[in-house]
Amino acid sequence: MLRSSLLFASRSPAARTLVETTPLTRPVVDRFVAGAAVDDAIRITRELVDSGRLVTLDHLGEDTVQTTDADATVEAYLRLLRLLQETGLSENAEVSVKLSAVGQSLPKGGHRIALENARRICSAAGVVGTTVTLDMEDHTTTDSTLDILAELRMDFPWVGAVLQAYLKRTEGDCRDLASAGSRVRLCKGAYKEPESVAFQDKHEVDLSYVRCLKVLMNGSGYPMVASHDPRLIEITGDLAARAGRKPGEFEYQMLYGIRPTEQLRLAEAGHRMRVYVPYGDEWYGYFMRRLAERPANIAFFLRSMLSR
Ligand code: FDA
Repeated sequence: MLRSSLLFASRSPAARTLVETTPLTRPVVDRFVAGAAVDDAIRITRELVDSGRLVTLDHLGEDTVQTTDADATVEAYLRLLRLLQETGLSENAEVSVKLSAVGQSLPKGGHRIALENARRICSAAGVVGTTVTLDMEDHTTTDSTLDILAELRMDFPWVGAVLQAYLKRTEGDCRDLASAGSRVRLCKGAYKEPESVAFQDKHEVDLSYVRCLKVLMNGSGYPMVASHDPRLIEITGDLAARAGRKPGEFEYQMLYGIRPTEQLRLAEAGHRMRVYVPYGDEWYGYFMRRLAERPANIAFFLRSMLSR
């Protein structure tokens, strides 16, 4: 119920104004977001890389309805990629892109515009020697995102994508994408989805995650295990060992600010551990999805509001 309300609020302009204008929201946001400026993103990336972790950077923004905003997002990624190269970080840091931020949700020709914009980002990533992973948004975008992935991979075979275990279709999508060179970031899923397309029960989502992970581990692609769930992390180790995968042949991924001690433990044990680092001004939707995921995050936020 609370999760549904927060996910509903994540797309409500009125709730957005309320949350954004509450002065004490900021310290809570800072726990999950690297900062507003690209320099903040570079500084945090440097700290994470120096501690043995890998990074994927997300320039915050989604559901763009103006072509100029989509263009500005592309420019922000091009600048970020140049800076990653100049600072020597491009070997250990890649970028994650939400297609709705680069035009997918534009009313006219959104799919084609997002493809061309994503292509520009992939070209720049190729030049600096890093990779791009396409985030997955709500289920109405899944087909478009997977079609764009297929188009991009013809020129940039290293482009990866997120799949969401809560969607009933995902086990099949994992089978389609478990081939050589394919990079799949498997997560549980963070949007409010109807019962017709998504498992609603947490346990069912976890079971689906394990089924999907088995497909990816037994395939010949590169699985990226995006979860903070201790049970799934343990199961990942077992499935990888059974599939004969060595530590460099898959990776763990977690969000910035969540379970940092566990991130370090996995990195120190010799695993590839990548942290998803969001930065920029458009933090609202991302932040509300993090609150919806975990009651402890909400309690932290409410305490900040009440202590005003
Ligand atoms: P879940 O939230 O069910 O938590 C399971 C357990 O993990 C908890 O019981 C607790 O033990 C532990 N845990 C979780 N949060 C914790 C915390 N803050 N502190 C301590 N322990 C904690 N979603 C999407 O729809 N599209 C996308 O493109 C992406 N991309 C993405 C990239 C990466 C790298 C990650 C890690 C996640 C995403 N997500 C996403 C978000 C994802 O779908 C999901 O909402 C969150 O990862 C939360 O799910 P968990 O698997 O962590 O389990």
